[in-house]
Amino acid sequence: MKRAEQLPQYDDAELFTSCIAALSRKPPVVAQGEIDRLRTEIAEAAAGRRFILQGGDCAERFKDCTAKVLKRKLQVLLQMSMVLTYATRKPVTRIGRLAGQYAKPRSANEETVGTRKMPVYRGDLVNGYDAGDEARRPNPTRMLEGYYHATASLNYIRALIEGGFADLHHPEQWDLEFLEKSPEGDSYRRIADAITDAIHFMDTVGATDVAEKLRRIAFYTSHEALLLPYEEALTRMDDNETAYNLGAHYLWLGYRTCTLDGAHVEYLRGIENPIGIKVGPGLDSDTLLALLAVLDPRKTPGRITLITRFGANTVRKSLPSVINSVQKAGHPVLWCCDPMHGNTETASDGRKTRRTANIFSEIEQTFAIHGDSHSCLGGVHFELTGDVVTECIGNNEEQDLCGRYDTACDPRLNAEQSLEMAFLIARLLR
Ligand code: PEP
Ligand code: CO
Repeated sequence: MKRAEQLPQYDDAELFTSCIAALSRKPPVVAQGEIDRLRTEIAEAAAGRRFILQGGDCAERFKDCTAKVLKRKLQVLLQMSMVLTYATRKPVTRIGRLAGQYAKPRSANEETVGTRKMPVYRGDLVNGYDAGDEARRPNPTRMLEGYYHATASLNYIRALIEGGFADLHHPEQWDLEFLEKSPEGDSYRRIADAITDAIHFMDTVGATDVAEKLRRIAFYTSHEALLLPYEEALTRMDDNETAYNLGAHYLWLGYRTCTLDGAHVEYLRGIENPIGIKVGPGLDSDTLLALLAVLDPRKTPGRITLITRFGANTVRKSLPSVINSVQKAGHPVLWCCDPMHGNTETASDGRKTRRTANIFSEIEQTFAIHGDSHSCLGGVHFELTGDVVTECIGNNEEQDLCGRYDTACDPRLNAEQSLEMAFLIARLLR
């Protein structure tokens, strides 16, 4: 029996068993063929022929499973991916942190709200966000609710894409008003104009297969593989007795559960999906190599993404040696930069926030470090939303954070800040 960290204690064992049994009988959320295709795309990105954009909420909420929220999130991801395609001159694969990003690791079991101590919120898949012992009691029926919300979300995303979200491919129809306010507005506008020109050119010469490719995009889902009973119930065997997690295309191992002999590693070892590993200051190279040996023993292209999250102040010191040891060990990993989780700080009013300047600085340094190491940064990972929130400091000042601070966990980039990140990357790479 492996040690399982971060898992809730359910007090009704019978209810738990019946929920898991019900979940195990449900049709999968995604299909195996899609997972295999994503593995190939990740292998291409690792080899420098593709770029990966992963983004979405820190903690997705059931109440955010609405047409408006999902559509805006898809919109911002698609717009960013257009800019990144232009920036990298590579096809971009989009992976949403959505349709299942409902469980959160926490550093403490309890928190104080007002003057009351209570169990901590662990994500909608586990307990309620509202304050109070009853809301915070882990409830196994939430796993079934999670499944239904994931399927409803992904169904709508797929329908939007199938229905042709084509106008999104035309930057002149994007809401780029914020460019006017930005000191960098002119240079972003030139990038948007260049994308518009390229698309018009293809339309004019009748490059219909290209236009069709832009219209019919693949979209993948991901979440942290945290609540193991849920993940196991959605894990199914294919005809060759190979196990796939069919609750999402891509799963990642969180920074707080990457214990070598822990249950999360043991679970991920057994499934065929592509896997992300969060790599930060507390994970030394020896442990990382040991994790790679367990999770990728055959050194399979596309199997592992190393999602580095060191923070703008630490990345220069820490990342080069990590790259060096992975190169020496010969694992064909995809390197992806999560510039969010190493750059979290506490604002003067006590809220968690992040500065877009630090977020971009980590990206910029990470590209440079990979260049110096003859390695390739093949992806970026953001916490973002399509909604107008004031959670990160950039186009919001610190004193504005109280305006629309909606996140259930970490602060997210709003739509403008997200698109601005894509423009900044474009300017850096072009
Ligand atoms: C996350 O991605 O929301 C998260 C908890 O990150 P990490 O495990 O890197 O801290
Ligand atoms: Co987070």
